[in-house]
Formats: sequence, structure tokens, C-alpha cells
Amino acid sequence: MKVGILGSGGREHALCIALNRSKKVSKIYCFPGNAGTKSIAENIEINLNNFKEIKDFILESQIDIVIVGPEKPLVEGIVDYLEKYNIKVFGPNELCSKLEGSKTFTKNLCKEYNIPTADFGIFINSKDALSFLENCNLPVVIKADGLAAGKGVYICNDKADYSVAVKDIFEGKFGKAEKILIEEFLVGEEMSFFVICDGKNFKKFGTAQDHKRVGEGDKGKNTGGMGAYSPSKLDNEILNKKILDQIIKPTLKGLKDLNTSFKGFLYAGLMIVKGEPFLIEYNVRMGDPECQTILPRLKSDFAEIIEACINENLIGTNIEWFNDKSLCIVLCSKGYPEDYRKNLEIFNIKNIDLTENQFIFHAGTIEKKNKIFSNGGRVLNFVVKSKDFKSCRNQAVKLIEKIDWKEGFYRRDIGFKVIK
Ligand code: AMP
Ligand code: GLY
Repeated sequence: MKVGILGSGGREHALCIALNRSKKVSKIYCFPGNAGTKSIAENIEINLNNFKEIKDFILESQIDIVIVGPEKPLVEGIVDYLEKYNIKVFGPNELCSKLEGSKTFTKNLCKEYNIPTADFGIFINSKDALSFLENCNLPVVIKADGLAAGKGVYICNDKADYSVAVKDIFEGKFGKAEKILIEEFLVGEEMSFFVICDGKNFKKFGTAQDHKRVGEGDKGKNTGGMGAYSPSKLDNEILNKKILDQIIKPTLKGLKDLNTSFKGFLYAGLMIVKGEPFLIEYNVRMGDPECQTILPRLKSDFAEIIEACINENLIGTNIEWFNDKSLCIVLCSKGYPEDYRKNLEIFNIKNIDLTENQFIFHAGTIEKKNKIFSNGGRVLNFVVKSKDFKSCRNQAVKLIEKIDWKEGFYRRDIGFKVIK
């Protein structure tokens, strides 16, 4: 079977490697991919905004299944578009993708289906938002409604903070803002919970914890993710059942009541407050870098699972996992998440020997004349699977030290909550 993967990050390289392990997969195309995917797949230089060009290429090359990695094309309806041409796509349609694309859509669904989430209000102008805020308990969380690539969320401790947040959002800092969300600040432990859905049934697809802040000790600016580990330390049968019964199932029921159904990965960002799960946000795709820690733990054939989803037969498919832990450290370009340089050559990366439990997933890289250059803020992901998190992290750091790249930096404390 020929598979196409849309995207160019570490998540997509991890998807690529997982698919490449399957006997079922004869060829992989990445749109546009990176230097890592290039070594096992054919990278196709296409702009992900150009749905028509993507469709034409898929049809001409007779690609059997397409997997969409990032949220933007999903929210913009690429699945509906490709399905019109009878292309088999793994990913949610435009309506279901509103779970990520519109925070107010999700909040309203939570309200209607009694899904536990932070108390909230939705406002369409700054005057009403500000007068509501006058009487709120602080801290309070303020969010822009649409996609904001991990930005657009403000934790506000005083009036000065919330005034800036309201102003930034309504002035369009995160794109045109028609609505603003104000919510209660929840105190607890975060957890990323994944399910895979075929439109009829779903199965759990692992848990993880990511580190969003740029600095050690979880300090500094928010980023796309500086590292992650799987499973989450909160992963247990009792909590999992609550998450499925109180959050996942009512969400899928809500979508069904809208005459649609979810196909793809659904990622619930949760806050666990005194043992009870609250939904913070949904993403309609795998997490990046969570995906890079989850897929190496998968024992079953990944291509078979995806194919089963496309054929609405997930129920007949067994998903087995290794008991090992796994941890990812992201190597970034100095300056990220603010200004950073691109096109910096990375030396020695091709000479590193990896065991079967060690992975270097490329994120922002590009290959030119057999040399590897940085091409983004998050550049390489070092993932190790092992019996314990400490050994994962020690090994990952040793791998990073073998790379000769003075322009990079990383967090040495990934997993500090699970490593003494
Ligand atoms: P989001 O983009 O909605 O996931 O928010 C980004 C981050 O802000 C989350 O990972 C949380 O750490 C934090 N956050 C968002 N909403 C809340 C909330 N209601 N209470 C506490 N922290 C929150
Ligand atoms: N790591 C967070 C995300 O993928 O949204």
C-alpha cells in the first residue's frame, strides 16, 4: 500500500518511521517532509495550502491512504475536499476539526453534554469582557477563539494582565477575533490523553506529558513543545475510565448528534484536579512531540491500525503496547520561540549509531547536497525507549552531545516530575 503523510515536523517523521516498519507499506510520500523523512520516503515539494495540487498528486501517484499530521489543513477542511475525489484520508472532517479550531464550539459542546471543563464565559466585544472580568476571581484564563499555534492563551493575575489580553485578542494579534473566551483557572496536573477513532468506534492510544515552556523548571515563554514523555504518571485504570465516560464518549455523541462522526486521532488536553478530569482543550491530531514518544511504544502494526480506521473496522483490531517508558528531548535553534536563525548546518548527525530503542526524529531540517541544515525553531527530536525514564533521559542527552551543532539548545530537565 502507498501512503501519503501531510506535514513536515517531528510528528510526521515519527509517523513515517512507524509506517515504514509495516510489511503492508510499499511506499511513503511526505508532503513536504524534512531531511529525516527524505531518507525513507519521497518528499514532495507542495504547499499545504494548495489542496488542488495535493489532490492531483495523490490521484496521479495512486496513493492508497493519506494521513494528515497538522491541524491547519484539517481545520480548513482538507479531509472533506480529498474525500470528494474518493481519496481515503485518515483525519477528521472540517466540522469535527472545530474541536480544535474553535474553542467556543468545544466549550458549548461541553456545556450541552455536561463534560467537565473550567467554568467560562464567551464575549464578542471588549467592553462586555472587561466588565465581566471586574467581578472574576483571579487568576483567570483568557483565550483567543481560533487556531493560534500554542499562543493566544493568557493566564492573568491582575487587571493589567487581563486588559492586555483582551486588547491583544480583539486587536487581532492571533488573527481576526470575533469572540474571546474567559475561563476559570484550574489548579491540578496536566495530562495528554489520546484516542484513535474510525467514525464508529474508538480506542485509547496512549497518554503523555509535554513540556510547553522554553526554560528548565517549566519557566519562560510557551513553545510548541520542548520535550515529552509517555506514559503520563497519572495514567491509571480508574482515571482512564472517568476520562472515557465523562469526556471522550459524550464528545463523540455530541458530534454524532450533529450528524457527523470523528475519524482520526483525538487528543484531549486535560487538567486532573484531585483525581477528577477536566477538559482544557481538544486537538484533532497527534501531539508534537507527544507522538514521537507514543509511537515507539506501539507493538502492533501501525499501518494495519490506520487501514482498519479507514475501513471503519477498528473494533476488530488489537492495539498492543510495549511496557517501556519513552522520553523525547527537542533540540531547538537558539532564540526559539522568538527570533532564531535558519539554514545552519548540523554536523555529524549521520554518523550516530542508534540502538533499536533510540530514535532521532527530524523536525525543522532540510537536506541540501547531502548536508543537513536547520529549517525551523524545533529542529531535532531525540527519543529513547527504556525500562525507566531516567535511563531514557540520560541516553537522549548522550545522543544530543554527539551532534556537532553549536547553534542548538535544549532542556536537560524533561521528565523532572517522573525522574528523581
Ligand atoms: P491551551 O492552548 O488551551 O491548551 O492552553 C495552553 C496552556 O495554558 C495549557 O496547557 C495549560 O497549561 C494552560 N491553561 C489553559 N487553560 C487553563 C485553565 N482553565 N486553567 C489552568 N491552566 C490553563
Ligand atoms: N504538544 C502540544 C501540541 O501538539 O499541541
